[in-house]
Amino acid sequence: MMVSEAGGGDNARLWSQFTSRCEFRLMQAITYSKYGSPDVLQLNDVPKPTPKDDEVLIRVRAAEATKSDCEMRSFRFSVKWFWLPLRIGLGLRKPRRQILGGYFSGEIESCGKDVTNFSAGEQVFGAAGLRLGAYGEFVALPARYTIIAKPGNMSFAEAAAVPLGGLNALHFMRRARIQAGESVLINGAGGSIGTHAVQIAKSMGAEVTAVDSGIKEDMLRRLGADHFIDYTKDDFAGAGQTYDVIFDMVPGSSYSACIKILNSGGRYLSGNPRLSVMLRSPFTTWFTDKIASFAFAAETSDELMALREMIEDGKIVSIVDKVYPMEQAAKAHRRVETEQRLGAVVIAIGGSPIEQT
Ligand SMILES: NC(=O)c1ccc[n+]([C@@H]2O[C@H](COP(=O)([O-])OP(=O)(O)OC[C@H]3O[C@@H](n4cnc5c(N)ncnc54)[C@H](OP(=O)(O)O)[C@@H]3O)[C@@H](O)[C@H]2O)c1
Repeated sequence: MMVSEAGGGDNARLWSQFTSRCEFRLMQAITYSKYGSPDVLQLNDVPKPTPKDDEVLIRVRAAEATKSDCEMRSFRFSVKWFWLPLRIGLGLRKPRRQILGGYFSGEIESCGKDVTNFSAGEQVFGAAGLRLGAYGEFVALPARYTIIAKPGNMSFAEAAAVPLGGLNALHFMRRARIQAGESVLINGAGGSIGTHAVQIAKSMGAEVTAVDSGIKEDMLRRLGADHFIDYTKDDFAGAGQTYDVIFDMVPGSSYSACIKILNSGGRYLSGNPRLSVMLRSPFTTWFTDKIASFAFAAETSDELMALREMIEDGKIVSIVDKVYPMEQAAKAHRRVETEQRLGAVVIAIGGSPIEQT
């Protein structure tokens, strides 16, 4: 309206102000509007979020492309009993939250008026919880979420690869109450959670057996694994070894075979429980001298701080397989889903370099 009322030169000036204001309120984000293959991911201009009084606006620099992101995108979850509650939560006909990304690193852009624990420019990393949104250039999150200062000795790419794997691994390794010298088997050790679990179990003094596919052996041994079993060739349950702790992230593994190879007083922890495992676990705990449990990690700030300390002390490193630009988000998801990646797949959000500390 204003534009059409103004004269020629004014028109151009007002139009340019109007468009730059519009651009200012837009950001680029990887979005998806229907469930499906990686090709449903599109790079789009979307409204830039505005932080509420208790929120921080984060300029995202890197986001991990996780197995969970791929599961939410395709709506193919390995744990079937979870289908209905998830579908209701995530959107029955199409995804309710159209920007994925649960784990990120970045910088505080601005803070809501009630936020006292962050300041603009601070480098952070953390978890977006059920809000997601880290596949966009900016994400607004409550300041009370699991967001803390980024480790000083990690690049944005490396830091983005920590929260999912590190928080989940730390939760389960602490829950296992590992004592120095105990034998710990980690099934699915080469993934985001497993690579952190191996390092954390080693830092607790355990003797670690890593189970994954053969191409991950070198990486897992470098991270500290004492023994390695290639699941494509050997069955760890049939090798005649027993363990004090089994951390199992593979949904199809045999529960009874795992319980059988636990030592007396041993603990079995499932990070990916089928309904049958959830039903059988309490009976194992009540009626045998072994403990079986499953959990969904809470992902707290205290745990992330403990991880940062371990990173800064050199006890944990972050393994980044490959960094993709935003336009190649579909490729990033394909690599997570179908290829034999070594470490985390990271998406560089925005244009600036993310691989230096
Ligand atoms: N409980 C919780 O709170 C929680 C939280 C987050 C995620 N999760 C779940 O935990 C699981 C692991 O997550 P993640 O992010 O670490 O996944 P990930 O990065 O994909 O890692 C899974 C690893 O397991 C390996 N694997 C596949 N089949 C195997 C088998 N039969 N035996 C041994 N290893 C096998 C994979 O290797 P290949 O390359 O050979 O496939 C991969 O290295 C996911 O299913 C996820 O949904 C649970």
